[in-house]
Amino acid sequence: MMLSKILSAIDGSEASKRAFEYASFLAEKCNASLLLVNIADIFERVGSSSKKLEEIAKKIEKGEIDDKAMLKKFESQAREQGVKDVSTIKQRGDIAEEILKVADKEKVDMIVLGSRGLSTAKVFLLGSVSHKVIQHAKCPVTVVR
Ligand SMILES: Nc1ncnc2c1ncn2[C@@H]1O[C@H](COP(=O)(O)OP(=O)(O)OP(=O)(O)O)[C@@H](O)[C@H]1O
Ligand SMILES: [Mg+2]
Repeated sequence: MMLSKILSAIDGSEASKRAFEYASFLAEKCNASLLLVNIADIFERVGSSSKKLEEIAKKIEKGEIDDKAMLKKFESQAREQGVKDVSTIKQRGDIAEEILKVADKEKVDMIVLGSRGLSTAKVFLLGSVSHKVIQHAKCPVTVVR
């Protein structure tokens, strides 16, 4: 068996950073390529409050929320760690569905993600994205806490 392509799902949360570090470590060890994926979903950050929407709009304006720049940063970090083939994908839609679609389309051998993400209500061990990805993925999934 061989790991030739690893998908790392990144939302910018602390858990996803730890997941990225693990994915990058694995990719380097296995000489695998690393695919960094971010799915844009504005509702993820907003929740239900409209006050927060205003706050987030301002942060995007000021460049404090910039997912493209975030992916670039992780991309160069992976290269510095010795991963030779690093690429990024950013698309919109239902987060878990899009991660699963990319995993299929790109024929990845493993999906690495955090147990939880950006949400502040952390009652359960898993978030809805990690839960759904584990349930439906056709390849092994590594969950990093
Ligand atoms: N928008 C996203 N793009 C890429 N990966 C994501 C995205 N959102 C979550 N993930 C991945 O899924 C992991 C788990 O996040 P998840 O969203 O399931 O938890 P949560 O934010 O705590 O809970 P929830 O979103 O269900 O309220 C993250 O660490 C990250 O690896
Ligand atoms: Mg989330």
